[in-house]
Amino acid sequence: MAKKIKMNEEKYTTLVEPSLKEARMRKKNTIEINQFFLESKYFNLGAGKHYLLKTYGCQGNMADSEKIAGILELLGYEKTENEVEADLVLFNTCAIRENAEERVYGELGRFNKFKKQNPNMMIGICGCMPQEEKTIMTIKNHFPQINIVFGTHNIASLPEYIYDATKNQKNVIDVLSVEGNIYENIPTIREHTKKAWVNIMYGCDEFCTYCIVPYTRGKERSRRPVDIIQEVEELAHQGYVEVTLLGQNVNAYGKDFTDIKYTFANLLKDLHKTSIKRLRFTTSHPRDLDNNTIEAMALGGNIMPHFHLPVQSGSNEVLKRMNRKYTKEEYLEKVNKLKSLIPDISFTTDIIVAFPGETEEQFLETLELVKTVGYDGAYTFIYSPREGTPAAKFENHLTEEEKHQRLERLNEVVNEYALKGHQKYENQVVEVLVEGPSKNNKDILTGYTKQNMLVNFNDNKEHPCAIGDLINVKITKAYSWHLFGEVIN
Ligand code: 5AD
Ligand code: SF4
Repeated sequence: MAKKIKMNEEKYTTLVEPSLKEARMRKKNTIEINQFFLESKYFNLGAGKHYLLKTYGCQGNMADSEKIAGILELLGYEKTENEVEADLVLFNTCAIRENAEERVYGELGRFNKFKKQNPNMMIGICGCMPQEEKTIMTIKNHFPQINIVFGTHNIASLPEYIYDATKNQKNVIDVLSVEGNIYENIPTIREHTKKAWVNIMYGCDEFCTYCIVPYTRGKERSRRPVDIIQEVEELAHQGYVEVTLLGQNVNAYGKDFTDIKYTFANLLKDLHKTSIKRLRFTTSHPRDLDNNTIEAMALGGNIMPHFHLPVQSGSNEVLKRMNRKYTKEEYLEKVNKLKSLIPDISFTTDIIVAFPGETEEQFLETLELVKTVGYDGAYTFIYSPREGTPAAKFENHLTEEEKHQRLERLNEVVNEYALKGHQKYENQVVEVLVEGPSKNNKDILTGYTKQNMLVNFNDNKEHPCAIGDLINVKITKAYSWHLFGEVIN
C-alpha cells in the first residue's frame, strides 16, 4: 500500500506519496470501468474563473489535457492564455527525460511572480513528474506555492482537489502509485476540430531499461472495444476526419482482457468498417507487432499507410541491454513485410544515442539501420538517466561531447535519407487533410498527407480550402521535414 500519511498539517490536506518501487509491481487486480460523474457539491466551482493549462510531453499527455480541460469547463472555468488573468494554472508534465523536467521547474519559478501579483492564483502540477518521489521532495522543499499535486491515475478526482484546496486553504498532494480504474465519459475539450486522439489503452508493461513510463503510467489496461468503436463513430458523425488511436504500446491492446479474445488487429479491422476517413495509431512496440496487425493494416481504406515504429538502436547488443526483446533482424523483417504489402507506406521512428556503454561500432550499426529502412523522419534523443530505472545504474557513460556528436551525426543521416525519400513525391499528387494557415506565413496553408508528412501549400484563391477538407496537392519541392506544393482542385 502507498504510504498514506499526514505530515506538515499546516500546509497539506492529504498526502499520498508516490513510490516507484510500488509502481514497478504488476498486480493481478482487475480494473473496473467507471462512468465519470460530477457530484453536485462541485457544480460551479470554477464559475467566473479562468484556467491556464500547460501541457508537456507525448500525445498521451495531450489527450489527458483535453480531459482536464473538459472537467474544468464542466466546473465553469473558462480557458485563458493570459498568465496574469488565470485563477488556476495547471502544469501537465512529462518525466521521460531530464530536460523535460527542467523546463517545468523553470516555468514554475517564473509563475512565482504572477502568484505574488495574484495571491489567490491556484497552481497545480499533474502528469508524470509527480509520480516520482524526487519531484514531491522538490515541490515540498522549493515550490510551496503549488496548491495541488496529482498524478496520471486520478484525473477524474480533479474537482475534489480543487474543492479541498479552496475550502481548506491547504495544499493537496495525492499521487497514486497503483493504477486506478478506467473512467469513461470524462468530458473532453479537443484541441482540433477535425483531428482527435482516442485512448485505447493506458500504461505499459514493457520495462525497457531506460524508460520511466511503466512506473509513471502503471500497468497495461485496455478500454473495451465497444467503447472505442462507439467513440470513433461518434467523432466521425461530429465531423472529425482523422482519429489517432493512443497507447504507450498499442500492439499490446487487449492482452489484459480475461473474458474475451480481442487484439489490436481485431480493433483495426472493426474500425476499418467505421465511417471515420483517416485512422492512425501510436505508439507501437516492434516485438508485439504481429502478422495479424500487419495484415489488418494492409486492408488500407481509412487505415493510413504510416507506421511509427520506434527502433531505439540498430545494435543487437544495445537492444538487449535496453530490454527491447527483439533483434535488428526481426525488426527489419517486420518492416520489409509491411513494405511488401503496403508499397506506399512510410516509416518514422525513435532512436536513443549514447546509451551507457554504446560503442562507436554499435552506433554505426544504428546509422546503417537508418539507411536500410529509409525513415521519413525520426525523433532522436540523447540517453537521459531516469532515477529508479535499471539503466540509471549502468556504467560506462559517454562524455557530453561524444553524446552531442553522435546525436548530430545521426541527425545528418536521418535528414539526408528523409530528403531522399521525400523527393519521390516531387511532381506527384498527394491527398492532404487541411489544418489551416501555416504558423510562420499566414498566406500558406498546411496539412498532412496519408503518410503523415507535413505539406505547406499555396491555396487556390478562387476556391479557397477549408479546415478539414481532404484536397489534392501537387508537390513541387521536397525537404527533410516537409513538402511544398500547390492545390490542384
Ligand atoms: N532517455 C532518452 N530518451 C528516452 N526515451 C524514453 N526514455 C528515454 C530516456 N531515458 C525516448 C524513446 C521513446 C521516446 C518516447 O522517448 O526513444 O521511444
Ligand atoms: Fe517506455 Fe519501452 Fe514502454 Fe515505450 S515501450 S513506453 S520505451 S517502456
